[in-house]
Amino acid sequence: MHIHNLSETRSILNTFVAQLRDKTIQKDSMRFRRNIERIGEILGFEMSKTLNFSQKQIETPLGQKSTEIMANEIVICSILRAGLPLHDGLLNYFDDADNAFISAYRKHDANTENFKIIIEYLTCPSIEGKTLLIADPMLATGQSMLSTMEVLKPYGIPKEIHLISVIGSQEGVDYINKNVSENVHLWIATIDEKLNDKGYIIPGIGDAGDLAFGPKLQK
Ligand code: URA
Repeated sequence: MHIHNLSETRSILNTFVAQLRDKTIQKDSMRFRRNIERIGEILGFEMSKTLNFSQKQIETPLGQKSTEIMANEIVICSILRAGLPLHDGLLNYFDDADNAFISAYRKHDANTENFKIIIEYLTCPSIEGKTLLIADPMLATGQSMLSTMEVLKPYGIPKEIHLISVIGSQEGVDYINKNVSENVHLWIATIDEKLNDKGYIIPGIGDAGDLAFGPKLQK
């Protein structure tokens, strides 16, 4: 897997990630969602530099200009619910993309910290020959991302796969790296040291879904 860890280059992206982490700033859920969206825009922009382009003659009111236009057909698949602002950021730039949504959540064992990933809802167009972007802001264990790739298989063989994430754990990134083919790309804003025993990224940001959309009842 090609890992593009954007925090390795200094940019405004690091400021947006710092605001996601800051426990006073992250209380502002509108700013939290907007920061994830802005990070989606930046990750998408960086990723776009690796796509295919074709020459197009553009007529302006005053003349003509030959311009390189992105040629890929994009499908953006996001993992609910925390993936929604990241999805919006990607869709802001890839505005004619087709879209897929998947619900993946952790079902915890009653007496242990163990959990498995349950997928209950999936809506997806054909991904045959397309450039598939899978968006999940928190790449913790890597299990949701891999389960998503697995359940998308009946929808076609994509031309290329780009995983888009905001914060990953080193363990999750290593796990994905071990289990996907070499030509998959990971575009990620930053990678943190570890997971705690509940599978949260440390230092991370906390629960991205709750911070974006409010707390949920645990049932
Ligand atoms: N999901 C989150 O929202 N946060 C984590 O740290 C891990 C998974």
